[in-house]
Amino acid sequence: MNKTATKDLLPGMVTAMPVYSKSGQMILPVHTLLTTQQISRLEFYGIDWVHIQEDTKEASSADAPVQEEFVTYSQKVRKSKEFHTFKVDYNKKTQVLTSSINDLITHNTAVDSKSLIQQVSSLYSNHLTSLSVFDMLHNMRQIDDSTFAHSINVALIARMLGEWLHFSEEDLDVLTLSGLFHDLGKCIISPEILTKPSSLTEEEFAEIKRHPEEGAKLLIPQNLDRRIKQAALMHHERCDGSGYPSGLRGHQISDFAKVIAIADVYDAMTSNRCYRKGLCPFEVIATFEREGLEKYEAEYILTFLTHIIDTYMGNSVLLNDGSIGNILMINSQRLSRPLVRLTTNEYIDLSKHPELHIQAIV
Ligand SMILES: [Fe+2]
Ligand SMILES: [Fe+2]
Repeated sequence: MNKTATKDLLPGMVTAMPVYSKSGQMILPVHTLLTTQQISRLEFYGIDWVHIQEDTKEASSADAPVQEEFVTYSQKVRKSKEFHTFKVDYNKKTQVLTSSINDLITHNTAVDSKSLIQQVSSLYSNHLTSLSVFDMLHNMRQIDDSTFAHSINVALIARMLGEWLHFSEEDLDVLTLSGLFHDLGKCIISPEILTKPSSLTEEEFAEIKRHPEEGAKLLIPQNLDRRIKQAALMHHERCDGSGYPSGLRGHQISDFAKVIAIADVYDAMTSNRCYRKGLCPFEVIATFEREGLEKYEAEYILTFLTHIIDTYMGNSVLLNDGSIGNILMINSQRLSRPLVRLTTNEYIDLSKHPELHIQAIV
């Protein structure tokens, strides 16, 4: 066993004892074959030295061919026990929601809002911390992509955003139901159009655009908070007037519809564009920045993006040129382009390097 300074570590060395951070969190277990990524992690945590197995010290060198483990963040989440338990619970809740929405549509049965709120809130509180809400949802996306799963996702994301915006408990419940019912109108749009893999014709798109009004119509007879019905009707309206069905402007759109709009777009973006590559919140944030923040309520969208980014501070990221580093500092002017410290100890300010971007969290 040999105490080796972190700056002298080389890929290929093997730990002889577990490594703990100053706050007592285990960073690496015993018998870990070090990779450059792990060495960089140790540096990030400010670890000064590590116990290394004597026989691996000689054999290693910077040039030694070491199998770097490029398991994506997403893969790690999906392998975890927490994700497995979440998946089972999530599927149960989706079934409950599916049957309750089917009853509403076919028999106009009264919605049992208390029980629905309870179902979603328990899913939220049984399993989730703020980071894992997004981890779990991103990964569930790859398994179940139905309108019902989307509705649960939007309910959970909206509830979380509501919490960040300090909404009251009662309002959080209304927001949760708004998320569950926002796309109700899709249930009467032909499934062939909804699931069409190729691009839609103008007529088909016009058909899809009917869903907010159809959803609001279905909700009218229900004894539900007015704001839930407004969210169904207005969640595709945008503050700059570019939305549908009525092209309303910011002050005409209800606050709850504005929250649902953000949760809805975030969930749609992560499913359509990112899910094959694993978690990529920075890509999503970049899209929000590109497509115009003026479409959304400024306070809401900035709160949302800042909180999402905060959960990824310090994480290892892979850049599009193949280099790996840690997120060191967020640039409030360019949220998707933080300052990154590479494993080579080089600092890269992504806001000054348009050719580079974060490709994945690793
Ligand atoms: Fe919608
Ligand atoms: Fe939606």
